[in-house]
Amino acid sequence: MLTEVIYNRQILPLYYKLGIRWEPRPFVKPGQFVMLRFPNCIDPLLRRPFGVYRIIDEGIEILYKVVGKGTTLMTGLRPEDMVDMLGPLGNGFSLDSGKKDIVMLAGGIGIAPFYLSVVSGQRSGVRQKLLFGGRGKDDLPGLEDFKKLGIEMKISTQDGSIGEKGLVTELLKPEIRNPKSTIIYTCGPKGMLKEVARIALNLDAPCYVSLDNVMACGIGACLGCAVKVRSQESGVRDQGYKMVCKDGPVFDAREIEWEKV
Ligand code: FES
Repeated sequence: MLTEVIYNRQILPLYYKLGIRWEPRPFVKPGQFVMLRFPNCIDPLLRRPFGVYRIIDEGIEILYKVVGKGTTLMTGLRPEDMVDMLGPLGNGFSLDSGKKDIVMLAGGIGIAPFYLSVVSGQRSGVRQKLLFGGRGKDDLPGLEDFKKLGIEMKISTQDGSIGEKGLVTELLKPEIRNPKSTIIYTCGPKGMLKEVARIALNLDAPCYVSLDNVMACGIGACLGCAVKVRSQESGVRDQGYKMVCKDGPVFDAREIEWEKV
């Protein structure tokens, strides 16, 4: 679908919010993403995946981090620039896990799926806690949005500029008081996801991870985003590959061959 940019706002030195028109407003599950192409501004052949952060009056809002040439060029997008958008794609986090407690753990831009997740959890009355970490205070995009939502939060930064000093994964274990009634959702850098999965598996707590991978098509056609999986129940290894874009991006942590990620 060809649509337009509504706004493109810098919120932190390396983070921006991009509003995109999408009417009528779509239903998007937390963790779903869109593939975007900017025909007039950036390499016209390149599509990139972006998680949907919020639903706004006129469409959706994307949170993005400036990490390379493509996202640097994105910072130059202006209202009414055209966007080619495909989505919503992927499975997203479950909205009905049947658990009483949800612990969300996000690193940096990995916060993107959790705004919708918190909003949906608040509607269903489940207890939620957000553990949010980054390198420093400028690596916590959307923090003010979550404060406004009133969610219980713990913050950590590696440089100690805000919250506890250290890695966000260090906050996790004390939050899992009853592994049977708790579910963990996580999104962020691969090293962080691995550590969260390790802690969750040791505690026998259900854990779902949102993986990020290079994506060219976003619909399971190019096989470029394959991830190696094992059997969830038996742990039997070498069960082949799944596509992050189509089978994920959210996976049961038990299903991933973490040594290959
Ligand atoms: Fe093409 Fe996933 S991006 S198969």
